[in-house]
Amino acid sequence: MLCFGGGGAVRIGIVGSGQVARALARGYAAHGHRIRLGTRQAEVEGLPVGSPAEAVRDADLVVLAVRGTVAVDLVTSLAEALEGRVLVDATNPLEGSTGVPRLFVGHTDSLGERVQRAAPRARVVKAYNIVGNALMVDPQLPGGPPTMFIAGDDDAAKATVTGLLQETGWDVADLGGIEASRLLEPMCLAWVAYGARTGTWSHALKLLHAD
Ligand SMILES: NC(=O)c1ccc[n+]([C@@H]2O[C@H](COP(=O)([O-])OP(=O)(O)OC[C@H]3O[C@@H](n4cnc5c(N)ncnc54)[C@H](OP(=O)(O)O)[C@@H]3O)[C@@H](O)[C@H]2O)c1
Repeated sequence: MLCFGGGGAVRIGIVGSGQVARALARGYAAHGHRIRLGTRQAEVEGLPVGSPAEAVRDADLVVLAVRGTVAVDLVTSLAEALEGRVLVDATNPLEGSTGVPRLFVGHTDSLGERVQRAAPRARVVKAYNIVGNALMVDPQLPGGPPTMFIAGDDDAAKATVTGLLQETGWDVADLGGIEASRLLEPMCLAWVAYGARTGTWSHALKLLHAD
């Protein structure tokens, strides 16, 4: 199993080149990991880049950070390369045709499940979708480490992702199988709604326990 927190470098491929991909790339690199963006772009702010297939092939762990509307097609095209790999799904099924963010799937299915079905032998873990990119690595908040809620069918993959999240400043709460993406994806809308109402974008969730 991949091990985080012990000081060793892990090769992390990040499919995408948007705000999330760049924030994760810089954050993971600061922790000593070897990162590569998988993108159609030839150059992304001096970060190491390759095609999505190259970024997956050379990685111990892959993060999917592309627009939700293209996630399934892209993962389908990468399914063979993703076989056996941990695939962290950071995407949200957002469509903005009305100007108000809405989910294009929900209640009885989710993008996390669609991503898992698109690459059945990948070990998909939903994570990162409930917080803004600025807080994704090493969030510094007065209330201490926030909670990243995750979901996935493969317990070993979730343990690996939990290690990565704990190394980078998060408590982790496991909501169960990948179908719990049906709960996690709407949570992004709650994060956005609170930001829009307050005009602040530095918030994250924390799960508190009585014991
Ligand atoms: N922004 C946030 O703070 C945040 C927070 C939580 C979750 N998320 C989710 O994380 C994902 C990434 O968000 P983002 O804001 O970084 O970026 P984004 O603007 O949602 O997506 C940018 C990425 O989508 C890819 N893409 C767009 N159209 C494509 C197409 N037709 N074919 C192939 N690839 C295409 C681009 O690939 P190329 O690199 O090849 O151009 C680019 O890397 C989204 O699903 C978003 O909902 C975002």
